[in-house]
Amino acid sequence: MSVTLPTDLPALLNDCSTGFALPRPFYTRADIYEHDIAAYWNQSWIWVGHVCQIPDAGDYFLFDYAQESLIITRDRTGNVRAYLNICRHRGSRVCTEAAGNTRLFVCPYHAWSYDLNGQLRGGRDMGPDFDPSAYGLFEAHLRVFDGLIFVCPGETAPEIDPGLDRLRPLTAPFGLENLRIAHSASYPVPANWKLAVENYMECYHCAPSHKEYSRSHSLKDPASMTDELLGAMRDRARAAGLPDEILSLPETGDTGMNFYYRRYPLYPGYETGSHAGAPLAPLLGTLGGYDGGATDLQIGILNNFLIYSDHVVGYRFIPRGLQETDIQVVWYVRGDAEAGRDYDRDALTWLWHVTSLDDERIIRINQQGVNAHRFVPGPLSQMEWGVQSFYDNYLSTIGRSVS
Ligand code: FES
Ligand SMILES: [Fe+2]
Repeated sequence: MSVTLPTDLPALLNDCSTGFALPRPFYTRADIYEHDIAAYWNQSWIWVGHVCQIPDAGDYFLFDYAQESLIITRDRTGNVRAYLNICRHRGSRVCTEAAGNTRLFVCPYHAWSYDLNGQLRGGRDMGPDFDPSAYGLFEAHLRVFDGLIFVCPGETAPEIDPGLDRLRPLTAPFGLENLRIAHSASYPVPANWKLAVENYMECYHCAPSHKEYSRSHSLKDPASMTDELLGAMRDRARAAGLPDEILSLPETGDTGMNFYYRRYPLYPGYETGSHAGAPLAPLLGTLGGYDGGATDLQIGILNNFLIYSDHVVGYRFIPRGLQETDIQVVWYVRGDAEAGRDYDRDALTWLWHVTSLDDERIIRINQQGVNAHRFVPGPLSQMEWGVQSFYDNYLSTIGRSVS
């Protein structure tokens, strides 16, 4: 699909300064939002879910963002597949149920039917010359990494495999392929999706805005992450079976996708991200104990995870409109953990529920200020380097022509 570039995009890009927030049109203009979806979201790898959602052949779920919809399913040979949820007849959504199990996806409009391989099985009354093989569902690029499913809906996808290969030994001990969803929640916020992403990219706001998080997570204050605190956690992490490494991509001169893996210490007394520090669920994967750490994991700018010793929290920020975004949060525990027996759902979700409510509020009022006429982009702090990484990635991506 060709996309019309906003005619003044070069001038707008020119108005962006390194080390400063983005100018207002990036958060307020409908044509920029449309361009964001076409040039950034449709061309990015998006974390859509986990294999635990589709254990059997024919299981499927939908993943929607902006005006787009994807069908994620498991075919008869056990492979995970992703299709654009668009009928090849006259374009209806093919599947309208959020999740289920089926042998065929039957379009509700004129009943064209597609199998789990996306092939059209037949079109009614299409005449003798009709070739169903030319009208299969469009397939999206897909990768399953440690059970996490990533999809790129565009015709070409950014290179992801070298980064995943670098990441694999770091995440292996957590056994992420063996997880179940304990809870998922969506926090709608009346703000442009970029303000929500930026908020997650920095912990400059953590101390003033996240009272509960700041009681336990040293990331809120670089000065509090002393050598002693860090060293003690590293010793425990090594003993628990975690590699002692930080991964940060792209490296200088490299233009690849953003990957980030770093384990940082919780304050003494906290074994995980719980109210008073006590464990919340069975240890993940092959871990041999609690190290009192948390991993910030990023697989592409849009896909963020926090890995504690006993649970994982996934974060994504789904655009619904120019100033409508869903903050989606998914809590995972080990695959064999049972609610009520091995974990308490309210205790498990407490921290990132209250933190997400805080985030909804600060992102919402951020947008309100940005909408006002005298907003001018201010300078970023040293703690907001992640925001700059996002800007670099975003601006270079949307500045490219899209075909
Ligand atoms: S639009 Fe799907 S069968 Fe007609
Ligand atoms: Fe936050």
